[in-house]
Amino acid sequence: MQTPFQALVLTEVDGKTHAQVQPLTQAELPSGDTLVAVSHSSLNYKDAMALTGKGKIVRQFPMVPGIDLVGTVIECTSGAWKTGDAVVLTGWGVGERFWGGYSQVQRVKSEWLTALPKDMSPLQSMTLGTAGLTAMLCVMALEEAALPKGKILVTGASGGVGSVAVALLSRLGFEVTALTSRPEENQEYLTKLGATEVLGIAQWQTKISPLAAQRWAGVIDVAGGAILAQALSEVHYAGAVAASGLAASVSLDTTVLPFILRGVRLQGVDSVMCPQDKRTQAWERLATLCSADAYADMQRVVGLSALPALAAEMMSGKAHGRVVVDLKAAP
Ligand SMILES: NC(=O)c1ccc[n+]([C@@H]2O[C@H](COP(=O)([O-])OP(=O)(O)OC[C@H]3O[C@@H](n4cnc5c(N)ncnc54)[C@H](OP(=O)(O)O)[C@@H]3O)[C@@H](O)[C@H]2O)c1
Repeated sequence: MQTPFQALVLTEVDGKTHAQVQPLTQAELPSGDTLVAVSHSSLNYKDAMALTGKGKIVRQFPMVPGIDLVGTVIECTSGAWKTGDAVVLTGWGVGERFWGGYSQVQRVKSEWLTALPKDMSPLQSMTLGTAGLTAMLCVMALEEAALPKGKILVTGASGGVGSVAVALLSRLGFEVTALTSRPEENQEYLTKLGATEVLGIAQWQTKISPLAAQRWAGVIDVAGGAILAQALSEVHYAGAVAASGLAASVSLDTTVLPFILRGVRLQGVDSVMCPQDKRTQAWERLATLCSADAYADMQRVVGLSALPALAAEMMSGKAHGRVVVDLKAAP
């Protein structure tokens, strides 16, 4: 008989999402060619949407959410991986369309897996997770844009993508301004991550004009909406914006002026369907750039049963750094 393991399972009753930690067996897992013993997962904005039932992230129930996982391969019938290989998985619709990381064992497709970098522990990889990978992809987009000299603005700076982006940019020698809705609360945290300036949204967002004074060589934006519109209007001639999120709004009400008068570039960043070679490159760079001490201030480690409450906190815009799920701990 197969040994049961613990998983967080979402069901929908009368249009409402319910989360429950319960035992599952391998026979109940979906089809796939690779069985993984999951050691850690993490809580991302999308996971918070899934757990709270907001935004219709989950396409079918029951669902094991968790868009990230790290662990070791138990068996792989495609031959792509060996038993015991350390692997990391983010995106590809896992935790949305396919069962994800909130399970001590999961069955997935071998092509979704990336080798865990040699110098990175499983805990470190999930402190980064999708948020960290996205931050790295944003940084790479700005590097490819060959920016003019100047400061970089990071919006939603105290959240997952923002925190890692601030830390990475600072390690790469950029001067970073961290934009946050909670400057008093986050000043010390963001300064410790490497921000040279912490700006409150309320003090920054006073008057929006299509073309404002040029302040930023580059921007990493997770907010969208009026924040992205204002950031675009303040980008230097030939600067660039890496846009990855919608924490404030899905809309973008702007003009073409920053593009046609200043040659500003707006680069979208997607981590979900990002090709494997770029992912591997991004994970290797994260391993090089993030030393062990980079993680301590950013991470909170919890068990599965803490996730519904933390998801509600995240949806209210109160996220701080990264939540790691330890699947080996008591749920
Ligand atoms: N493109 C991709 O592949 C990709 C991957 C990962 C995430 N994302 C998106 O990126 C965004 C951030 O993800 P995350 O994991 O970093 O989420 P998170 O940890 O919840 O952080 C979001 C941060 O944005 C700020 N924020 C929240 N609500 C806001 C509002 N109404 N107005 C202005 N700022 C607000 C807050 O920071 P402050 O308190 O500092 O203001 C919050 O901590 C989400 O929209 C997510 O869907 C996209």
